[in-house]
Amino acid sequence: MRIDKLLANMGYGSRKDVKILLKQGVVRIDDELVKDAKRQVNLETERVTVQGEVVEYRPFVYLMMNKPSGVVSATEDKVESTVIELIDPSYAHYELFPVGRLDKDTTGLLLLTNDGAFNHALMSPRKHVDKVYIAEVDGEMTVDDVRRFAEGVELEDGYTTKPARLEVLSRDGRRSTIRLTLSEGKYHQVKRMVAAVGKHVEQLERVQIGPLELDRALAPGEYRELTDSEVDQLIT
Ligand code: URA
Repeated sequence: MRIDKLLANMGYGSRKDVKILLKQGVVRIDDELVKDAKRQVNLETERVTVQGEVVEYRPFVYLMMNKPSGVVSATEDKVESTVIELIDPSYAHYELFPVGRLDKDTTGLLLLTNDGAFNHALMSPRKHVDKVYIAEVDGEMTVDDVRRFAEGVELEDGYTTKPARLEVLSRDGRRSTIRLTLSEGKYHQVKRMVAAVGKHVEQLERVQIGPLELDRALAPGEYRELTDSEVDQLIT
């Protein structure tokens, strides 16, 4: 890859900014001072530094966000604020996108990446990666609802859901807190399943995807990079 393209990809500015950097004589490939923007570089065999700092080329980035309510899980939207607007501009060149969608009013675990294969591994219906939600429900979720969710419930459009694990964490006759584990991700699925048994989701949070739990150190709107082992666990 050309050195100017590489540095632009790595967030050192536009190609024009990078040309200026090169002219300033602060870019080296191994011990050679490089000013030619067209110089080819291979990061597997050559070491690039900018002002002495080593450039680590990473094609892919994986972030975990604690999605706040009120933003949409999209890369752009004409009207609403998006989760991408919460990410520091230094990530802009990676062109991140959300892995699946949470509703605007749903909070919790959202992954963002620029790795299409990672997205596919987690979202493809054939991969059956469990997603776990905690919901506050208006109404009393019953033992019968647990059975119905385990068997699959028919939604209002005639679709019958795959078996899902419902745990009633607490209830007081009028409201319930539930934990629901789904192996599929139909549109508004949690809300529609709860509606199918005659109740209403008031608050919804995703807390887990496959083996990965939401990092509770993240306040709503905050994010962090996944560790290598977290990425490995998700795709194996
Ligand atoms: N189910 C829903 O109803 N909404 C979400 O955001 C995610 C799952």
